[in-house]
Amino acid sequence: MGSPLLPELEPLAFLLGVWRGTGLGEYPTVERFSYEEQLEFANVGKPYLTYQQRSWVLRDGERLPSHMEFAFWRPRPEGSVEVISAHPNGVAEIEIGNVDGSRVTLHSLRLVTSPSAKEVVRLERDFVVRGDSLVYDVRMEAVQQLLRPHLHAELLRTA
Ligand code: HEM
Repeated sequence: MGSPLLPELEPLAFLLGVWRGTGLGEYPTVERFSYEEQLEFANVGKPYLTYQQRSWVLRDGERLPSHMEFAFWRPRPEGSVEVISAHPNGVAEIEIGNVDGSRVTLHSLRLVTSPSAKEVVRLERDFVVRGDSLVYDVRMEAVQQLLRPHLHAELLRTA
């Protein structure tokens, strides 16, 4: 038996589970790419959810390990949420936003990059869940570009 879900996590309960699917990536400075993703939102019995994401770029019949993320989703009163994330490309960020039914919109409040990271200035994300389907979009302001789409993915809940 897992830990019971604390009442403050109920507005985020629609995210719980393991999600798998595929996405399309783009940015003005890179070639379009497709990727596979596994995403898990889990309850650990504390007033946050853990979020772990792994992705694999699909190129020329190969499946190459790509981006990962580890984060904590902290619900706040009145539908707001704080997300604390670490990325392997040298980015650490705090995103804030809102949960409205089964739609989440987030934007980075603080984003810092390590000395060797590429320039990343801002991220924005939208997640929409309908039953066992999760669709998300990520927009990014980075490497001297304006805020532009980077990712779009459609995942299904598997567990
Ligand atoms: C599913 C998640 C993601 C996947 C599969 C993904 C994949 C990719 C790929 C394949 C590229 C182009 C080639 C390369 O540089 O490796 C790229 C570029 C880039 N991505 Fe992502 N990415 C993801 C999420 C993110 C996130 C969350 C950030 C920011 C925190 C980010 C920042 C960047 C940057 C800065 C570039 C470089 C653009 C350039 O060099 O001109 N990516 N991404």
